[in-house]
Amino acid sequence: MAILVTGGTGFIGSHTVVELINAGYETVILDNLSNSNPKSLERVEEITGKKPVFYKADIRDEEALREIFKKESIDSVIHFAGLKAVGESVEKPWMYYENNISGTLTLIKVMNEFNVKKMVFSSSATVYGAPAFVPITEECPVGKIENPYGRTKGMLEQILTDIAAADPEWTVILLRYFNPIGAHPSGKMGENPNGIPNNLMPYITQVAIGKREELGVFGNDYDTHDGTGVRDYIHVVDLGIGHVKAIARINDFKGVKIYNLGTGTGYSVLDIVKNFEKANNIKIPYSIKARRPGDIAECYASSQKAFDELGWKAERGIEEMCRDAWNWQKNNPNGYDD
Ligand code: NAD
Ligand code: WQD
Repeated sequence: MAILVTGGTGFIGSHTVVELINAGYETVILDNLSNSNPKSLERVEEITGKKPVFYKADIRDEEALREIFKKESIDSVIHFAGLKAVGESVEKPWMYYENNISGTLTLIKVMNEFNVKKMVFSSSATVYGAPAFVPITEECPVGKIENPYGRTKGMLEQILTDIAAADPEWTVILLRYFNPIGAHPSGKMGENPNGIPNNLMPYITQVAIGKREELGVFGNDYDTHDGTGVRDYIHVVDLGIGHVKAIARINDFKGVKIYNLGTGTGYSVLDIVKNFEKANNIKIPYSIKARRPGDIAECYASSQKAFDELGWKAERGIEEMCRDAWNWQKNNPNGYDD
């Protein structure tokens, strides 16, 4: 029996596939390659010695999904596939609702047809909005979500919860990721953003390699220790392992469980710059810019529940995150296109 990994050639998906294979699971990857490169599959093979089964398919394509479920013996699904650019979602909300929501509904429909009723879903700390308290536990109320991308996550959490309530055979694990960064320590896999990076770490690595002149720091007047935004950065390998731990428990209960996956430590933008400089011995020029609309001051997790119930804890610190992110960028200046 295999785990179907939708979005398995993407940043988090590819790292999770490596950890699943390392843990002895069989994987089947499905991705439409809209935001990823098939070369990641070769890298997975180089790292694990196993060639993953891959289907180029879209989660909105019912027939294609049926063919995969017919051919493969699928036990459960880790559902990463989705669009994730916050700014783009504000400009093209319909595209996000269509891809993320319709796509997931189609996937659920086909899963039901084939009696596969176990899913680990990629949710996000974005559902907490401006959090009611920090560190954020799973009891923290879901807040006012700031953008259409984030709203697709909130809506899908609700849809999956309703489905599990209506059909007691369903098991859903909602994983709320904090800020995934870093890359595989081999330097063979990492984040491969198209165009100008939206997120902090890929922007920093592109400054480090000389593709961008300087980092713009979005605001230094937040109520944080140095005025810049504080986030809970988590190494993508730790995140991948979190999925393996979730899959290991998926047969143990029915219904829905929610887990935060973060480290529990918040770092400011300037903390990240300093840690990157120290870990890699490279200067990152920066200047202070206006706040970015929709940003919050601080966000960091309590992942105690994931530790207590899944036996999972992030092991990799900020230095490793900065080192591995740079190692990937340095070895692959143009991502998988090198
Ligand atoms: P990613 O873009 O690297 O991976 C997503 C993958 O899904 C890509 O390979 C893309 O080609 C594929 N995809 C998109 N739409 C598809 C469709 N209709 N059919 C088939 N494949 C499709 O992003 P990521 O950073 O690896 O994120 C994975 C998941 O985790 C996403 O759902 C994202 O929203 C969620 N998430 C990401 C972060 C983050 O900061 N990276 C944080 C919280 C949650
Ligand atoms: C981190 C900090 C910025 C870029 C986003 C999504 C969220 C989740 C993860 C999917 C903030 C600052 C950034 C730059 C900067 N994705 N920054 N200069 O905004 O916490 O979360 O990715 O679910 O939904 O919103 O991450 O990496 O964009 O920003 O100063 O060029 O870095 O203001 O304080 P964010 P980020």
